[in-house]
Amino acid sequence: MALQFILIIPLFIILAYKLYNSLRFKLPPGPKPLPIVGNIYQVKPVKFRCFFEWSKIYGPIFSVYYGSQMNVIVSTTELAKEVLKENDQNLADRFRTRSSESMSRGGKDLIWADYSPHYVKVRKLCNLELFSPKRLEAVRPMREDEITALVESIFKDCVKPEFNNITRLAFGKRFMDSEGVVNEQGEEFKKITHEGIMITAKLSIAEYIPWIRWMFKVEQKALDKFAADRDHLTRLIMEEHIKSGNTKQHFVDALLTLQKQYDISDDTIIGLLWDMIAAGMDTATISTEWAMAELVRNPRVQKKAQEELDRVIGSDRIMTEADFPKLPYLQAIAKEALRLHPPTPLMLPHKASANVKLGGYDIPKGSVVHVNVWAIARDPAVWKNPNEFRPERFQEEDIDMKGTDYRLLPFGAGRRVCPGAQLAINLVTSMLGHLLHHFNWSPPPGMKPEEIDLTERPGTVTYMQNPLQAVAEPRLPAHLYQRVAVDM
Ligand code: HEM
Repeated sequence: MALQFILIIPLFIILAYKLYNSLRFKLPPGPKPLPIVGNIYQVKPVKFRCFFEWSKIYGPIFSVYYGSQMNVIVSTTELAKEVLKENDQNLADRFRTRSSESMSRGGKDLIWADYSPHYVKVRKLCNLELFSPKRLEAVRPMREDEITALVESIFKDCVKPEFNNITRLAFGKRFMDSEGVVNEQGEEFKKITHEGIMITAKLSIAEYIPWIRWMFKVEQKALDKFAADRDHLTRLIMEEHIKSGNTKQHFVDALLTLQKQYDISDDTIIGLLWDMIAAGMDTATISTEWAMAELVRNPRVQKKAQEELDRVIGSDRIMTEADFPKLPYLQAIAKEALRLHPPTPLMLPHKASANVKLGGYDIPKGSVVHVNVWAIARDPAVWKNPNEFRPERFQEEDIDMKGTDYRLLPFGAGRRVCPGAQLAINLVTSMLGHLLHHFNWSPPPGMKPEEIDLTERPGTVTYMQNPLQAVAEPRLPAHLYQRVAVDM
């Protein structure tokens, strides 16, 4: 009897607390949560599509419970503005799962830091030092080196071209020799990034129900090992840079030089370097892959882009970023690809640091808010024929995609907007420009353009379920396919 009583008391307290909240707050509607697990087993793997469907049932703002954690999903331009502009300051914390808590050492980096004096300091460092127009321009030759290396590897019929732009920018390393053979450090780097992806992909229910975490010791061990391996490799690279006199433009050199001035710890430097790898390495390349998939599906658009490139650049030199202003159609293609296939369709989770009101509902402190930018970018109330890949729409109306127009938010908006947006736009536009100028792209033999599969793979970052396969046919003189190597 006494035992039953002890078991019932916590349940009673939880129910009473829920009742109190439901009377005190007008909470957004949503699917009915189950006890303990909430809606976790109702959410379909490709979350942003599931949330898009649920928005048709529950409305443009609704709640979803992961365990007892309340999540709020908004799916319209107006509500995105309420989240990212009107309530920006109170919705600028981050929700950290156990893995992001461990990987960021409790938010000592930028991506997972709560909005705090630490965040403001590190964000200032990023904006002023790492992503300033001056730094972006200084590392331009490095970007062009890597993109021409990509073109060369496709020309040489490499089966799996590697793309090292972000590792080079962060660590000053390609992790391979000039023949494309990956070195020992490169193997270690690959192992660590693979481990990181596997750990986060295996997220268990324990991420959301803290009091059952003691049952998941194996996962905790894997997280600790990942952190130790990652720190070991990063410290080795940092030491190499210190020994070499750090005078280059890579992030690791910049951070070591600025460490004292900004008063940042080694943990923060390691956190920031891996933030750049996590946020930048795949997002820009998969955006290009999605764009290429659309271009293989739409030969008309591909041909029109190539006509523009031939007119502006001709066929006796290769494109550079300096050509961008004369290539409006190419820029519109990059934008249209990021509209239809934003690589982070639900952005990153924003956590409420105070009670706020959204769309007339109460959002209690501690709730996690997600903006479904994928759904907003396909909303027929805002976009004409939203599912059609038609870059011309951006020539008819100039719509910004860096956070000032709430119809198009691939990089988010407000104080947590992606600091790498301009770098990413340059990378995607440049990759697309080179790939289209150098090659004609068609579906594999026997496949029709419209049969290219656009299914998404589940995950925070949206990869193609089936990586794009296409036939590349060179269209420029052979000497234009060589890597333009720079030593930086
Ligand atoms: C097409 C490529 C990219 C897209 C679509 C993208 C998009 C985003 C989005 C949606 C966010 C979250 C914004 C929010 O929470 O409100 C974000 C954050 C971030 N991105 Fe990007 N990103 C891209 C590339 C990059 C690159 C190349 C870098 C750096 C090398 C980068 C660095 C970051 C960082 C550090 C954050 C965290 C900012 C913060 O929490 O304050 N991103 N990005």
